[in-house]
Amino acid sequence: MSVVDPTFDLDGQPVALQPGDTILTAAARAGLDIPHLCWSEEVSGSASCRLCTVLADGRPVAACVTPAVAGQKVDCRTASLATQRLRLLQMLFVEGNHFCPGCEKSGNCVLQVQAERAGMTDLNFEVLNPERPVDASHPDVLFEPNRCILCQLCVRASDEIDGKRVFAIGGHGIATRLLIDSPSGRLGDSALSVDDRAAHICPVGALLPKRVGFAVPIGQRRFDTEDTRG
Ligand code: SF4
Ligand code: FES
Repeated sequence: MSVVDPTFDLDGQPVALQPGDTILTAAARAGLDIPHLCWSEEVSGSASCRLCTVLADGRPVAACVTPAVAGQKVDCRTASLATQRLRLLQMLFVEGNHFCPGCEKSGNCVLQVQAERAGMTDLNFEVLNPERPVDASHPDVLFEPNRCILCQLCVRASDEIDGKRVFAIGGHGIATRLLIDSPSGRLGDSALSVDDRAAHICPVGALLPKRVGFAVPIGQRRFDTEDTRG
């Protein structure tokens, strides 16, 4: 007798699920992309970006933290969800300063590639142009807060992988920001090492190891050579 894995339906395709799966992890194992920014298989889910919102039996949920359920009907590619994703990405762009052509993360940036996949061609909203001082105090890692999308990946990596808790999220609303645990609040006085996973997990160009930004030339980077269609 053969044992058949239970499945759920994602945009008309059956997806096998295993115990402990979220909708996103099961889809990723099946090679199906659900757009995401704040999820990584290396750390626990935080559901902070909401880019992965799907409809599970008609109910909007964050796919990265919602358990996959056998027999469930999940929709990821509706016109309404596509518009919501586009607006969310546009809000992230206007809330910070994201000048892709001048950013050393270009071609390796998850925000940039998600915007491309969403078909983003304008900002739609008024640009806020914040002025947040760059923190270059660490000898090996730069923090550029104007590019931080508050995804909390560095927070979780520092806590769960490095065992240090160098980062936290503080403030409310538009004043929410990434905090650094050090006497001065600057990276150079913190316990962060360039060998920490937290120094490398940033999906955008906010936390950057120094002196390696152009080791891989533009045109040969991760998303330069991958199919970026969603
Ligand atoms: Fe996310 Fe990078 Fe900001 Fe950390 S510095 S919260 S990893 S965007
Ligand atoms: Fe699910 Fe960010 S990837 S909320």
